[in-house]
Amino acid sequence: MGPLFLVVEGMDGAGKSTQIERLAGWLTRAASPPVVTREPGATAIGGRIREILLDPASAAMDPKTEALLYAADRAQHAAEVIRPALAAGRVVISDRYVDSSLAYQGLARGLGIERILDLSMWATGDLLPDLVILLDVAPELARGRSGATDRIELEGQAFHQRVADAYWALARTYPDRFAVVDASAPPDAIEGEIRRLVEARLEAGREVRNENRVHHGKGCGLPTGAGPQAPS
Ligand code: TYD
Repeated sequence: MGPLFLVVEGMDGAGKSTQIERLAGWLTRAASPPVVTREPGATAIGGRIREILLDPASAAMDPKTEALLYAADRAQHAAEVIRPALAAGRVVISDRYVDSSLAYQGLARGLGIERILDLSMWATGDLLPDLVILLDVAPELARGRSGATDRIELEGQAFHQRVADAYWALARTYPDRFAVVDASAPPDAIEGEIRRLVEARLEAGREVRNENRVHHGKGCGLPTGAGPQAPS
């Protein structure tokens, strides 16, 4: 059914893990199991980078060091996990990706969206998601739900408000990539909404692949539909 690259974004405590688990369960039942992954720390190298990033003892970390470490984790993640899975025709669901860096480092830390986007594009070889599902929740509610134990979570309320504002700004700037889901709704309602969004993307992907097959067929002088099979 793939390849399809989905990312779930939002503040800590927005309910990303629960919804990713539910989405993965549904995809597994409906078609085939997706590759579920996350940032930072999905690879062995990334796990070590994650420790440096989130350790409260790294309090003196310069924002630029922080941005580079998230980008380094992402480079390894794209090369080792995401690209191979997409090449094998799989659906990939990542808990956070480039837009976390745009929100946290680009906007909340004030390093600038363009710089951070350039950095991530360089790190991943221009790999952007097909769809970003933003679980939108008020920072006060999200903070109540998250344990607030790592270095980033321990930042003050003003920082988390900037992250929330940043996600909104990103969703408005990139409407084709983003879908905003109200994360204060009951979990079943959120699950249904996400499912509808993903179904629509899978359907759109199928249409594009069929189109390509038709065009390819014509271009090669083959009968329509006899072009090479897209990965399923
Ligand atoms: P996460 O793994 O979601 O935290 P947890 O395991 O507590 O759910 O992410 C760790 C923190 O890293 C989170 O506060 C957001 C932050 N982060 C960035 O600042 N920039 C990034 O690019 C990414 C991927 C995460």
